Amino acid sequence: MDTILFAMKIAPSILDADFSQLGAELDSISSADRIHLDVMDGQYVPNISIGVGVLKKVEFPKEIEVHLMTLNPENFIDDFVALGAKTITFHIEATGINRAVSLLKSIKAKGIRAGVTIDGYTDPDWLTDEILGLADQVLVMSVKSGFGGQSFMAASLLKVEDLRARGYKGEIEIDGGITLENIKEASDAGVDIAVVGSFLMKKVSSERAAVIAGMQGV
Ligand code: DX5
Ligand code: ZN
Repeated sequence: MDTILFAMKIAPSILDADFSQLGAELDSISSADRIHLDVMDGQYVPNISIGVGVLKKVEFPKEIEVHLMTLNPENFIDDFVALGAKTITFHIEATGINRAVSLLKSIKAKGIRAGVTIDGYTDPDWLTDEILGLADQVLVMSVKSGFGGQSFMAASLLKVEDLRARGYKGEIEIDGGITLENIKEASDAGVDIAVVGSFLMKKVSSERAAVIAGMQGV
């Protein structure tokens, strides 16, 4: 059988899931590659979302990655490592460059993947060569972080191309407004992992596996 070399990894965001039946919602997306947890603190972004306390008893069908949209990401690392996170990414706008360097080192020292995120309007120059040398993953937001269901910012793909042109070999993830219409462009620009929120979770649960398969195959 041929090996598919450039398949896109799909990481559904459960922000738009029906939390009154979270187990069934997770079952419906179990063919995804990762489950994306959006953690908002009401400070870095205006919203508050989910924290580790309410997730402790949840059984996730795939590895989890945590997207910290918080002012002090350092405060949340140990709890999410204990929850089983395989990747944690935080916003460089919240930490600045020096703290980002230390935090990437300390997340990696826990034996998990360390990611750094740039928000929709942030210049990729924030991602210094030192930071790119440390980050296992860069999350390029394609909306202003804080809410699901926003429109995709096409300019984010220029940032992805810029990172690849600079020689970044780690994983690049895109998050915000991803649909079946724009995911191929993201793949062509150099994205490896796409977060998909409202586009997927607004489908009836019986249709989600087919949507995920279509996105993985771009
Ligand atoms: C936004 C979050 C995203 C978002 C994705 O701040 O980081 O993960 O919920 O949802 P859609 O795909 O609806 O933009
Ligand atoms: Zn996210």
